[in-house]
This record gives sequence, C-alpha cells and structure tokens, in this order.
Amino acid sequence: MFGKKTQKPQIDKDQLELIENAQRRVKQKKRLYSHFVIFLIGAIFLILANTVLGIGEGFKILNIDWFVFAISLWLFFLLYHVFNVFITHKFMGKDWEKAQLDKLVGEQKLRIEKLKHKVEKDELKEAKIIQSSPATIQNKNTNNLTIIVAASENNAIGKDNELIWHLSDDLKRFKSLTSGHHIIMGRKTFESFPKPLPNRTHIVISRQENYPVPEGVIVVDSIEKAIEISKNDNQPFIIGGGEIYKQAMPYVNTIEMTRVKSTFDADTFFPEIDVTVWKETKKIPHGIDSNHAYAFTFLTYVKR
Ligand SMILES: NC(=O)c1ccc[n+]([C@@H]2O[C@H](COP(=O)([O-])OP(=O)(O)OC[C@H]3O[C@@H](n4cnc5c(N)ncnc54)[C@H](OP(=O)(O)O)[C@@H]3O)[C@@H](O)[C@H]2O)c1
Repeated sequence: MFGKKTQKPQIDKDQLELIENAQRRVKQKKRLYSHFVIFLIGAIFLILANTVLGIGEGFKILNIDWFVFAISLWLFFLLYHVFNVFITHKFMGKDWEKAQLDKLVGEQKLRIEKLKHKVEKDELKEAKIIQSSPATIQNKNTNNLTIIVAASENNAIGKDNELIWHLSDDLKRFKSLTSGHHIIMGRKTFESFPKPLPNRTHIVISRQENYPVPEGVIVVDSIEKAIEISKNDNQPFIIGGGEIYKQAMPYVNTIEMTRVKSTFDADTFFPEIDVTVWKETKKIPHGIDSNHAYAFTFLTYVKR
C-alpha cells in the first residue's frame, strides 16, 4: 500500500568472514600460479641464454653452471612460496591470528575479573579491620596529625584548667603553626579559652549531648570522629589537654613540644615521651628575657 520494501540479502558476520577468507585464499593461489608460470618462462630463458646465446659460458658458481645455480635458487623461492600458501597461511593465516587474539583477550578479561574480585575482597577486609580496631584509623589518613604542647621538665601542662606560664614566643609559635588548620581539643581546654581562636577550625570532644558552642565550632563524641573530620587537612593539630593528649598518642605522627626548663606543681600532665617510639628531629633553644620568665626549647619529635 505504501510502497514495496526492497529485500536485502541477509549475510551475518560469520558468513561475511567466510567469504572474505575464501577471496583471500583465491588471491594467494592466483599469485602462486603466476609465480610458477614466470618461473617456467624464466628458467627456459636462462637455459637458452646460456646454451644458445652463450651468455656467461663457462662461468660457474660452486662448480655449478651459473644458470643451473640461478634456476635452483629461484626454485627454492618458489617452493618457499608454495609452503607459505599451502601450509603457513592455511594454518597460521588471518583466522589463526584472530583465534589467538580472541584467546588472549579472553585470558586478559579473566585476569581483570580476578583482580577486581581480589581488590573488592581486600577492601572488605580493610573495612572490617578499621571497624574492629579504631587504632588503625591512622592508616586511612595520610595527613600529618600533630600534637602541639608546652610541658615542663616534670611534664606539667596545666593547673585549675589554666596554663601555668605565659611565654609570648611560645604563643606566637602556636599561632603560626596552627593558623589555617583544624585544632582538636577536649571540652575542658575549649572552656579555658575566653573565645574561639581566629582562623582555625575548632573540633571539641565531649561526651555531653547538645554541648552548646558558638557557631562554626564542631562538637564530636570521640577522638576518632575528630580525626575523621580533619582528614582533608594536611596537618591537623591536637591541642590538648591532658586527657586528649593521652588518647591521641597512638594516632599522631608528630609532636611539636615546647619543653619549659623548670618543674611545676600541676593537676594535668603530658604523657612521658617514649624515645623508642619517638625520634627528636629538631631542637631550638630559647633563653630567659623580659617577656620570658623561663628558658625553654622548641622540640620536634617524629614517630619512628
Ligand atoms: N600546656 C599545654 O600545652 C596545654 C594545652 C592544652 C590544655 N592545657 C591544660 O590542660 C588542662 C585541661 O586538660 P584536661 O585533661 O583536664 O581536659 P581536656 O583533655 O581538655 O578535656 C577533657 C574532656 O574531654 C572530653 N573527653 C575526653 N575524652 C573523651 C572521649 N574519649 N570521648 C568523648 N569526650 C571525651 C570530656 O568532656 P565532657 O566532660 O564534656 O564529656 C572530658 O571531660 C587545662 O589546665 C589546660 O590549661 C595545657
């Protein structure tokens, strides 16, 4: 009614390949036949050139007349051509190459599947370990989690929720190192500040539900959550106090310590630094002057 559909011959991919292969074989055999004919004519011509026209008469290679030598050499190439057409191309032609390629691709696909499976299994294993042991949280974080602390020779760090000394260069160093970073602290240390410190992201750890804080301050109920939140910071700082320093020790990579050269009466202390775990990498001494009632040393420790 609306015109006749033209019938197109339906040739599938396999049939097309068979046809192409047959055409290739015909061409190969035609070329071989032409080679054979040229060889016959060429051989007759070489014999006549020598015997009738006397070209190169008496000239021998390896004690064989040159034309016999040339015809034998040509015959060798002809036989090699025959071998190629009927043996090599038959068994190792395009089909053979394609089959090999398919086989290789299949093997690669299988390997990729196996690797994918292994990666999935490893990820699952890692997730299980992290869940069962919070101490492994550090493995996930590639940043340099750092404790910053000022402690006396007897490890005193505070009394009545206050610092024991006022050392202006130490405060300047604290400001310069921590500015622009996350600072993680216990609730009591947070309460020892008159207000949040500028240009730093405060993370306060407390077990209290709905602990009230000014806008922008983050409250979490564990040290692991505090570390997780700061994981995109290249150097988040644990800034105290005593309880949080103690719990943070297994997670941190660096300790920036101001060692105040005196002993003090205190109610809060920094844990003893185990020199088998921590290696001192930097030491900058600072003397007593009008702004500094005590001598002190800036020390950097890195986990071995
Ligand atoms: N010298 C220094 O460099 C330095 C630095 C910082 C602080 N300090 C001094 O250290 C003293 C404060 O230290 P601190 O040891 O008494 O208190 P802190 O470590 O600052 O805070 C302790 C509070 O943190 C919360 N907390 C602790 N562990 C927790 C956990 N696992 N999960 C959830 N919440 C947890 C609790 O809050 P909730 O009670 O709300 O649950 C706990 O009462 C002050 O004297 C301060 O001046 C000195």
